[in-house]
Amino acid sequence: MTRILGLSAFYHDSAAALVVDGRIVAAAQEERFTRKKHDHGFPTRAIEYCLAEAGIGAADLDFVGFYDKPFLKFDRLLETYVAYAPAGVRSFLRAMPLWLRQKLHLPREINRGLGKEFTKRYVFTEHHQAHAASAFFPSPFEEAAIMTLDGVGEWATASYGTGRGNRVHLTHELRFPHSLGLLYTAFTYYAGFKVNSGEYKLMGLAPYGEPVYADLILEHLLDLKEDGSFRMDMSYFNYCRGLTMTSEKFHRLFGGPPRKPESPVTQRDMDVAASIQQVTEEVMLRMARHVHAETGMKNLCLAGGVALNCVGNGRILREGPFENIWIQPAAGDAGGALGAALFIWHQLLDRPRTPEPLDSQQGSLLGPRFGNEDVERFLKSVGARYERYADESALCDHVADRIAAGQVVGWMQGRMEFGPRALGCRSIIGDARSTEMQSVMNLKIKFRESFRPFAPSVLQEKVHEVFSIRPEEPSPYMLLVAPVREDRRTKLDGAADGRTGLDLLKIQRSEVPAITHVDYSARIQTVDRDRHGRYYKLIKRFEEKTGCPVIINTSFNVRGEPIVCTPEDAWRCFMATDMDVLVLEDCVLEKTEQPETDAVDRRAYLEQFALD
Ligand SMILES: [Fe+2]
Repeated sequence: MTRILGLSAFYHDSAAALVVDGRIVAAAQEERFTRKKHDHGFPTRAIEYCLAEAGIGAADLDFVGFYDKPFLKFDRLLETYVAYAPAGVRSFLRAMPLWLRQKLHLPREINRGLGKEFTKRYVFTEHHQAHAASAFFPSPFEEAAIMTLDGVGEWATASYGTGRGNRVHLTHELRFPHSLGLLYTAFTYYAGFKVNSGEYKLMGLAPYGEPVYADLILEHLLDLKEDGSFRMDMSYFNYCRGLTMTSEKFHRLFGGPPRKPESPVTQRDMDVAASIQQVTEEVMLRMARHVHAETGMKNLCLAGGVALNCVGNGRILREGPFENIWIQPAAGDAGGALGAALFIWHQLLDRPRTPEPLDSQQGSLLGPRFGNEDVERFLKSVGARYERYADESALCDHVADRIAAGQVVGWMQGRMEFGPRALGCRSIIGDARSTEMQSVMNLKIKFRESFRPFAPSVLQEKVHEVFSIRPEEPSPYMLLVAPVREDRRTKLDGAADGRTGLDLLKIQRSEVPAITHVDYSARIQTVDRDRHGRYYKLIKRFEEKTGCPVIINTSFNVRGEPIVCTPEDAWRCFMATDMDVLVLEDCVLEKTEQPETDAVDRRAYLEQFALD
């Protein structure tokens, strides 16, 4: 038996993944255990969990893989520093102590983290190899083109190549500082959102604006080639020299300084978001066409932070030349841990790979599970009132009724998701037909910005009846955006005339308004019987009652909080928000029946999470 632990750490989103004889046994992000969003520390807790899941100790591991080569990355930092000296000295000095303390001594650091029990071999894959491995090896394809689209690893910021059988082979790369990920992050910063975290908000904001600055971006900021490669004019950016993303020259070009975090969002912010989103999609599409022409493959695998841009992915699927796309659900750096482990198994040890019909990511449900005994023990310890359902159909029937009655349900069952999206195991769910649900969920449950859209979970076999997408097109990981079908839309009869910006939110646009964005788009999660078990049964029951195969699915957390992991995390979030019902495995809690408790102080609860 060969046991391989993959790690990603020290940048953002630390994670661990355990692969035993080629099978993914466990994978989880450190933030879920430490309750610190995007925790970048050594993933001690995630490792502990992975080992416990397999019932082994660190001494039983055969390999430990790390998702990049620290010396190569150090080399980039040094060279960038030299190229931009003396201006780069500030960012250099800030980065240096951590490098000297940790990153250049990784084996020592990892060794310490594993309690000095691990005595075998360390492997450091290149960052983009780890992303590529995470995209191709779990995919359902025997062979495929691979694209990685990222901020930056060592030097490469994007790369492409092919995967065949048990090998990935990257042939081309785009190099730092020219980076689609860093370009998008620069605009995230400019729009007043947190870098490496608020990119998803920028994408959500884009449909409210007009891409009026797209030409300006293409004229001044980057020189985009037909093949999707580009060079950026670094005088507009500050990430090589300073501690910010954009320069004064950038601010002059777009007519003002960056938006202050938490200040009101203006039309200009929305237009900026729409503009960079359009340019990003254009780059993604050009790259995809080029990679298709060069490789001649009909399948495409994607990973890297930019592959979480599900609007761009949706356009590659609809307008691009590939027949099929598979995207690693943990496309960001957390997925590098999984990629490093799979890379060792297939590429280094030359073990064969048999693609599975759906994929071998197992719905990305690779985290901890808590049984009814754990749940009941906890609920009793806090004096919660609950009812345990012996029968799954009765449970689904009850919860479907509650959703149909417009209530908000916290839903925790099975293994926790690996990757940034909640996929029906740690989700807050509600009725997609409701006109109030978007604002209720944003303002009273998640305490987040009112503009943010919600995503639908839809029965796989019905997806094309509601959305413009090929029949049965799978999107189990919420990584594709598709428009709501024309015949499901509401006639506006001039309702939108004269409305702009957030005012557009007030119009009902479809039969499922809560998950229809202002441009009619939706980030789809398809739910199937094989992968999703109880979650599928619940939506099926809801459909039988209401005729609607769609519900809202948003991650189980408040703003700034990592997705809940344990029954305790879920209960505290339930008690601190206006959620109506909580389902923990077979146990159901009604908010109105809970005794008064001092255990959860709402204000203190919300304040412990830094705004993201
Ligand atoms: Fe990365």
